[in-house]
Order: sequence, then structure tokens, then C-alpha cells
Amino acid sequence: MKKTLLAPSLLSADFSDLAGAVKKIEDKGGSIVHIDVMDGHFVPQITYGEPVIKSIRRLTQLPFDVHLMVEKPELMVDSFAESGADWITFHYESTVHADRLIHHIHDLGKKCGISIVPSTPVNFLSEILPLVDLVLVMSVNPGFGGQKFIPYTLDKISRLKKIREERNLDFMISVDGGVNEVNFSEIAAAGADILVSGSSFFSGKLKWEK
Ligand code: DX5
Ligand code: ZN
Repeated sequence: MKKTLLAPSLLSADFSDLAGAVKKIEDKGGSIVHIDVMDGHFVPQITYGEPVIKSIRRLTQLPFDVHLMVEKPELMVDSFAESGADWITFHYESTVHADRLIHHIHDLGKKCGISIVPSTPVNFLSEILPLVDLVLVMSVNPGFGGQKFIPYTLDKISRLKKIREERNLDFMISVDGGVNEVNFSEIAAAGADILVSGSSFFSGKLKWEK
């Protein structure tokens, strides 16, 4: 069995010390840097954008998964690709032309993830599952760190895993929101290949070995 990977979310880092946060991710078992981009429209807050990603890109070799919680992600993916994203993950709910955008992200030479909010059924992804490299299952309503894991999303994770087996596909399953030191093993057992963790990782409660 493949080991589950940890992707700490910078959202819970001290923004006055992003270099320290990236070092902590490297030193404490992170395999991917999860970067939450919020535009104040798709979700209420505004976080950071391309210039910040560009600055931290030189600090580490770890891959960056840029999680775009923005409206019209198609207008932004070129600049996020240029700023140093390795994976670009956008929301199924944020654009009409998901198929076109997946191809565009691949044409930029990047891996493509698709994310769904808790209320979006897994079967809405049916046609595009063969096209994506990653499915990011949101296990809280996106927009804020430190929220409680929504239990029914566990079933979405196991269903995705089952579909992947049945259809012989190879996307990764990432789970984002409310992952902590208590529930991480249950979420991994349900089928998560990647666990995103913000508050639990940066508070030091979730300990991880690569
Ligand atoms: C939520 C973000 C998450 C968040 C996770 O909108 O997409 O990545 O930072 O934070 P925790 O682990 O605190 O729920
Ligand atoms: Zn995220």
C-alpha cells in the first residue's frame, strides 16, 4: 500500500514568516505545499496570489499544489503556472468549462486537480475523472481554516476510490478541511492519498513522518 502524503496548508502559517513556515513543512514531514488562493468572491476571504507564490518558490523543491478558490479560474491559471505552481487545482463549481480548463492546465505543463465542495456529488465528475491528475475532496465548506470535518464526506472519498478501481483510473485523492490528529487515520483508510492539514499541522498537534 502506498503511504499517505501530507500536504500542509500555508493558510494556517504565520504570514510574517513564510520562510519559517516552508521550513517547518520540510522538516515536519510535508511532501507537498498546499497553497489556498481565495478571491473574496468564490469564498469570502482574500489570501495571497502570484507574487507571494513566486517569492516562496525559491525556498523549497517541494511541489506546490495551488488550490484556487476563485471565480473564473480560467482567467488566472496562466499567471499561477508562471509563478511556480506544480499542480493547479480549481473548483468544479467555479467554471462552466471544466473540460477546456483541464486541457489548458495540461498544455501549460502542469498537473491538474479538480475540487468539489461538500454539497457537490462525486458523480458530477464522472465524465472528467479520466482527464484529471487529482480530485480534491473538500471536507469543510471552503473559505476558512480551523473548521470541523464534515462526516458525510468520508463516503465521498470511499466512493471515489471505488470508482477509480472499477474504471481503472489513476487520479490521486486529496482531502482538505478539518483533518486533524484524531481523524487522519480514518480519512486515510477511506481512500485519501493526500491529507491537507492547516491548523492541526501548524499548531504542532498533527505529527507526521514521511
Ligand atoms: C479551506 C482550505 C483548507 C484549509 C485547511 O478553505 O481550502 O486548505 O486551510 O485548514 P484546516 O486543516 O485548518 O481545516
Ligand atoms: Zn485548500
